[in-house]
Amino acid sequence: MSIVMRNIKKSFGQLATPVLRGVNAEIKTGEFLSITGRSGSGKSTLLYIISTLDPPTSGEVEIDGRKISDMSSREVHGFRNARMGFVFQFHHLLPELTALENVLMPAIKTGSERSRSDFARKLLEEFGILDKADSLPSQLSGGEQQRVAIARALVMEPAYLFADEPTGNLDTVNGRAVMNLFARINRERGTTIIYVTHDKEFADMASRRIHLVDGQVAESDPNGPKA
Ligand SMILES: Nc1ncnc2c1ncn2[C@@H]1O[C@H](COP(=O)(O)OP(=O)(O)OP(=O)(O)O)[C@@H](O)[C@H]1O
Ligand SMILES: [Mg+2]
Repeated sequence: MSIVMRNIKKSFGQLATPVLRGVNAEIKTGEFLSITGRSGSGKSTLLYIISTLDPPTSGEVEIDGRKISDMSSREVHGFRNARMGFVFQFHHLLPELTALENVLMPAIKTGSERSRSDFARKLLEEFGILDKADSLPSQLSGGEQQRVAIARALVMEPAYLFADEPTGNLDTVNGRAVMNLFARINRERGTTIIYVTHDKEFADMASRRIHLVDGQVAESDPNGPKA
């Protein structure tokens, strides 16, 4: 099980300005991987491509032995729902639903709400917010809201968790709490976690780093890869 990127290129707009210029990389199951690079270097673009949310202009992404381009959009949707969780900088919780209902959203979509509801509560408990299960997002702090969003991303027990600046909107204390939670999920559940960050401290928590420079993976990371 792995994600393989082969010569991924991406351009946007009529001028076809190249953003990714031939990314080759492999991510193995169980990795805790950070993606770093300057603003505009293509981090989010790459994350969306490897998580099936956006197709590359050319090149190939293979997940668990299957080329995404060979799958029908129906298959891609099914694959995404079953195998992937997403966390973004802004958590996009539904304001009229409680914390628990928000966590259960992916299960509601697939008709597995009942079988997932105990697990959803367990996640809230693990994250220290079970007492907020019936609160609306507006009644939660930013850090609590992000923990709800992470629980939502995990409720289907995905093999892969993708996160785009999950701490970008949080203060240091809450940012650390979220990153420690990620580390624990990776360690205890074996979830492969791939996250984009600007924060050096958080980038260093990864077991490996992909550093982008000008739309390509840098040969050597100027900040020094940890492992
Ligand atoms: N949908 C789009 N249409 C046109 N240009 C885009 C689009 N998405 C991204 N870009 C451009 O691609 C480049 C890389 O964007 P991307 O969002 O991947 O950068 P990033 O590394 O995530 O930056 P940041 O750290 O600021 O989030 C930028 O120059 C951006 O303007
Ligand atoms: Mg970005």
